[in-house]
Amino acid sequence: MTRSVLAIIDVRPAHTAMMTERYDLHRLDQIEDKSAFFDEMGNKITAVVTSARFGLPAEVMDRLPNLEVITSFGVGYDLIDLDACQARGIRVSTTPDVLTDDVADTAIMLMHATLRQLVHGDDWARSRKWAENGPMAMTRSVRGKKLGIVGLGRIGQEIALRAAPSGVEIGYFGRSRKAVDYAFFESLIELADWADILMLSCPGGDATKGIIDAQVLSALGSNGFLINVARGSVVDEPTLIAALQRKVIAGAGLDVFYNEPKIDPAFAGLDNVILYPHAASGTVETRDAMGQLVVDNLNAWDDRGELITPIV
Ligand code: 8YV
Repeated sequence: MTRSVLAIIDVRPAHTAMMTERYDLHRLDQIEDKSAFFDEMGNKITAVVTSARFGLPAEVMDRLPNLEVITSFGVGYDLIDLDACQARGIRVSTTPDVLTDDVADTAIMLMHATLRQLVHGDDWARSRKWAENGPMAMTRSVRGKKLGIVGLGRIGQEIALRAAPSGVEIGYFGRSRKAVDYAFFESLIELADWADILMLSCPGGDATKGIIDAQVLSALGSNGFLINVARGSVVDEPTLIAALQRKVIAGAGLDVFYNEPKIDPAFAGLDNVILYPHAASGTVETRDAMGQLVVDNLNAWDDRGELITPIV
């Protein structure tokens, strides 16, 4: 029997088309009367397709009593209640590995762009300030800095590999010590105190909510920089904005924010922050690979009750 699948979003048009060909696919974003849909179809849906950005709201999951599997586009799972999934025996897959390189590249790009003030420099050349006022103010070298990585998982390790040739010393803090040569710090405060650049590449969710707080930012200090490719929720954002305004830290490069896509307008008024619209994995190549992995996971479940990249 053809499996009924609920797509919370259109992952990628090509991949949605592939799934439409094989499954009885319903797009939640196109359904007007959602309550009527759940009354009629709720108990027939056995698979959900979603993304890290949308996750699976509890009120939707509650309407799907026969849900077996969730295949998610992206690597973050902070918007999927894994405990609830485990309690109900629902399996979940994400799209690891295929996005690691682009996210790590973006982290390095933001690090260099922040310290070397790429956006300000572009404006300086473009707006004729260079012609009228002379050279832009000097920036800061990456070489010789101490890079403190928060979360040395797949992405964090790739960031470290890419950062080393830029001449930084690397330390890290995370849930566990890894078999690597970088210095492990027992606490986040100690890492922030040591680091010139604090790089966030840890998972989001309750365990890391607001861990970058006033104390950590003070420890990072007025010559310190924060780079975040993790989740906006990891940072106490009002405190970060105040710290940037008052130069408690020197600057920040951010791919992720608390309230995406309607980010706090105060960011736009800051000249010591580089903003990127949560697009670290947003290349054609990587998004294609992520979409394909979502489809492959769903097909593997349909064919043989297995997932290729399960998290539970
Ligand atoms: C995703 C991300 O592309 O993978 C993640 O967790 O944050 C991004 O790389 C995005 O969230 C897709 O919805």
